[in-house]
Amino acid sequence: MNAPLPHLAPALRDGSVDRSFLQDVLGGLGAPRKHLSAKYFYDRRGSELFEAITRLPEYYPTRTELAILDRYGPEIGAGLAPGSALVEFGSGSTAKVRRLLPHLSDLSAYVPVDVSEEFLRSEAEELGRDFPHLRVEPVAADFTKPFAFPDDLRDAPKAGFFPGSTLGNFEPELAAGLLASFARTLGSGATLIVGIDLVKDKAVLDAAYDDAAGVTAAFNLNLLTRINRELGADFDLDAFAHQAFFDENLGRIEMHLVSRRSQLVTVAGVPFHFGSGETIHTENSYKYTVPGFRALARGAGWEHARVWTDPDGLFSVHALTASTIRRQ
Ligand code: AVJ
Repeated sequence: MNAPLPHLAPALRDGSVDRSFLQDVLGGLGAPRKHLSAKYFYDRRGSELFEAITRLPEYYPTRTELAILDRYGPEIGAGLAPGSALVEFGSGSTAKVRRLLPHLSDLSAYVPVDVSEEFLRSEAEELGRDFPHLRVEPVAADFTKPFAFPDDLRDAPKAGFFPGSTLGNFEPELAAGLLASFARTLGSGATLIVGIDLVKDKAVLDAAYDDAAGVTAAFNLNLLTRINRELGADFDLDAFAHQAFFDENLGRIEMHLVSRRSQLVTVAGVPFHFGSGETIHTENSYKYTVPGFRALARGAGWEHARVWTDPDGLFSVHALTASTIRRQ
């Protein structure tokens, strides 16, 4: 990606552009079936829109998971070894761990792992104010890669926390790889608490990702706004429509942006043609059955310990135990 581009946006000229974002977008739009990575949804506006999604009547996952954590927090907490270091992968917001912390009296530390250093610091400070006896040890890192603990926590028992069904954004093979990487990072005997959205009626799933108020549509389209701003593109937002549906064979929600007409879009000087009705695939959100998720976890070195669900069986929180010593 070092070749000069014909019509550079100001951000490209002054070097402030995120090169891997540019590379991913050019690669994804240049593919035979156009796609963009869901990890790019979360700029400032995207994060706000996601927060709004979590409050929609149709979007059950967040409130259901919070209800499970509230109801079974004492049981979940009782399963952790005394003196555990609790590692949250991709902490994003601390709303969920706040529900667990009151039930975890004997933690050696809370270790939020996130790429955004600034966000980590402000969230960690706030959490420290609300839980003054808690040691907070933020780690600025990509949670998909192994990382090292502060020296004095190396020998503490480890518990991982991965809520929000974030695992559903990964292809099953990659999800298994990520779980295996957590096992290596946390070590044998560790516990992992993970939130997983469950397979259910297609109508319920379709509505959760295509809400009546159009918030999910705005969230999806915001990716094009971000590309326009950061990569000097000229997407016409009115020329694309939000599409989301549950594919029952693949067990996943797919989100797309559908081109309403035949058109040419330029990104950092590179032209891309869209046929009428052609889509950009922007997200997968895999849903699991409880046995299906257990099988995936077992293949990645995690034995199933417990599972908690809501009365309607919409969402699940699993406690897993790292089965064997795994080294790279
Ligand atoms: C943050 C990945 C869990 O898949 O439900 C919500 C993202 N996308 N509505 C999900 C999302 C559209 C969300 N996760």
